[in-house]
Amino acid sequence: MAGNRPGTGEKPSAVSPPLWQLLQTVAQSLQAVRQGQSTSRLLPQIEATRRAAVQSLLFRVLRQLGMAQALRQRLAPRAPAPAVDALLCTALALCWDEDQAPYDGHTLVNQAVEAAKRNRRTQGQAAFINACLRRFLRERAPLLAAVQADPKVLTPLPPWWVARLQRDHPLAWQSLLQLGQHPAPMTVRVNGRHTTREALQARWHSAGITSQPVGRTGLQLDKPMDVHLLPGFDAGDCSVQDAAAQLAAELLWDGLLQTVTPPSGAADHSAWRLLDACAAPGGKTAHMLEAAPSGGRSVELLALEIDATRMPRIQENLQRIGLQAQVRCADAGEPATWWDGRPFDGVLLDAPCSASGIVRRHPDIAWLRRESDIAELAQQQSRLLEALWPLLRPGGVLVYCSCSVFRAEGQDRIDSFLAHNTDARLRPSPGHLMPLAPGNQPGLPDNWLGDHDGFYYAVLEKSLG
Ligand SMILES: C[S@@+](CC[C@H](N)C(=O)[O-])C[C@H]1O[C@@H](n2cnc3c(N)ncnc32)[C@H](O)[C@@H]1O
Repeated sequence: MAGNRPGTGEKPSAVSPPLWQLLQTVAQSLQAVRQGQSTSRLLPQIEATRRAAVQSLLFRVLRQLGMAQALRQRLAPRAPAPAVDALLCTALALCWDEDQAPYDGHTLVNQAVEAAKRNRRTQGQAAFINACLRRFLRERAPLLAAVQADPKVLTPLPPWWVARLQRDHPLAWQSLLQLGQHPAPMTVRVNGRHTTREALQARWHSAGITSQPVGRTGLQLDKPMDVHLLPGFDAGDCSVQDAAAQLAAELLWDGLLQTVTPPSGAADHSAWRLLDACAAPGGKTAHMLEAAPSGGRSVELLALEIDATRMPRIQENLQRIGLQAQVRCADAGEPATWWDGRPFDGVLLDAPCSASGIVRRHPDIAWLRRESDIAELAQQQSRLLEALWPLLRPGGVLVYCSCSVFRAEGQDRIDSFLAHNTDARLRPSPGHLMPLAPGNQPGLPDNWLGDHDGFYYAVLEKSLG
């Protein structure tokens, strides 16, 4: 047996539920994802004692779903009922790769059949599930070879997604797909107002937690762990934030500190007036405050969020680090409903997007999205850019970003914005950052942040005259 519990660093519960029960829950969750529900809504509904185990297995299944679907199609060309298909795909995703499988193949098949027998939606098909899975175990090598030889059948992510990646990133698309099948690293941002990176790293080291510096203020953990067990986390000494995401506040402050002083009367010189237009859960809001230069001007930060259910997370984050912003529930694209008419020195627009750059962290994303979503999101991103630009003072800086690797949500948005906003200038900016592990990027510029999420960044400056 390759292992007897799902292992990605999550702690096992004191009493582990039987595997067939976990498989049932994972298959039901997979069916729900296929019907359009996100794992971030599904997982909190699962009983706490088995949530970590279910998450670990479900994420593994979602990452291997392309292969599982292709195998299911070979084993049963006529699609079975959704509940049966979900259980079959769950079992296949967990056992097709012998080297990575969390369970021995025969154990898994026995338990999948047990799961089928104990659910009224699948019990009538338990013998069929048994036959399909046992045939897979017997004929594993030729079945895998047949599936791997047919790129029309085997797509690790939905075909439209793969085609878009290939078109947008002809050099990197295969690495992107490959990397999407592995969990992302756990990276934190050190709060320079509380401690230094070196001090926190040393403190963790003495507690047996090893990490590597990344970017300006980040530490990447060698092994992911429960964040509340990280010394200093609950006291606000650090926050979980991907290395590429940490650039948002850095680029904004770098830009602001280079801005030309506006003509008198055009701005209030006693405080930096900043806007975080799409703020929840508040990771970048907190960073904007942490990274503010000490001494001199104070910071007035307005954090907007359209979704009232996501607002408490912003406050929780700010409370933990002990800093303050004005937090409001509003549509950033309708300034008439919330703007007091005083221009901002700096704006961060972390736009709603497909999240195609963080598919490793949220492997349900690719299966939840439709191709038509991308055009709708692009339209929303442009609407927000156009609505917020007039709120920036002359000489001010707007940082646009999205955690997407699709050009339609990055470079294309900025090209189209610049084409008809002659008072906007693009400062030297990172552009599209690829989520590639170091050394895995033929023909691409240096991956100076190490292993990070996919992001797009543009720093726009407003002309003075
Ligand atoms: C990419 S997330 C922001 C992540 C956040 N900046 C962070 O670092 O923690 C985008 C957020 O924008 C919000 N949003 C979407 N449309 C909006 C709008 N028109 N006005 C304000 N917020 C919006 C979404 O609800 C979501 O919480």
